[in-house]
Amino acid sequence: MSDTIPFSTAIRTATEEQHTEAENSRFMSDMLGGALGVDSYHRYTGQLWFIYRALEGRWNHLSDDPVAGPFIRPELARTAELERDLIHLIGPAWREDLQPLPATAAYAARIVECAHQWPAGYIAHHYTRYLGDLSGGQVIRGTAEKLWNLPHRGDGVRFYVFDAVGNPAAFKREYRALLDQLPFDELERRRVLDEGKRAFAMNTAVFEELAAEFPARRPS
Ligand code: HEM
Repeated sequence: MSDTIPFSTAIRTATEEQHTEAENSRFMSDMLGGALGVDSYHRYTGQLWFIYRALEGRWNHLSDDPVAGPFIRPELARTAELERDLIHLIGPAWREDLQPLPATAAYAARIVECAHQWPAGYIAHHYTRYLGDLSGGQVIRGTAEKLWNLPHRGDGVRFYVFDAVGNPAAFKREYRALLDQLPFDELERRRVLDEGKRAFAMNTAVFEELAAEFPARRPS
């Protein structure tokens, strides 16, 4: 169909409601509203590590893929940044007691499955995390710095700092152009949009399990 809306618009629209839901989830609002202790941020950052290890674990292979390859950009890589943050937040032995929540394990497993078997589906996961980190992630960084007195753009919030990206607005424009050039037929397009919705749902599931672990403090 020649009048099909651009894929970048389609995926944003398809996930808009879920974005609002994720943004306003109890865990996010309580954590960023200052109702939870810093340990909630440690726990959240630890869960992100499993997610980004899954996202970035097959970049060597995916970078040669005709569909997913153009999205594999070293300046987006977050695993090393998360590790620096975790050393700062938890200590050098951060890995010892870190376990994925069931929702995190399921999410990471789905990313790995797509990375191995369905590069187009992998793009939906890539979009959901990296474009979000370049957008709302900046709000999270500022709030975390203030709430827990973390060094500005330093250890503890490096995950949110994309020094190598340069101009995030320009980067996002290029990224959307890449999305719009994807050679999808109608069926594949629909399947990838569904995978985007699944990616958002899997993020919300992680937030729900985190919320259960961190009930908000009652005002005294
Ligand atoms: C407190 C939490 C959050 C805040 C404050 C927030 C805020 C924002 C804002 C302001 C934008 C628009 C930026 C722009 O137009 O360039 C955005 C975009 C985006 N966010 Fe979030 N967000 C949050 C959580 C999340 C979560 C949990 C996800 C998914 C895991 C996510 C994924 C995205 C994506 C994919 C975009 C890009 C949409 C597009 O233009 O295609 N966000 N976010």
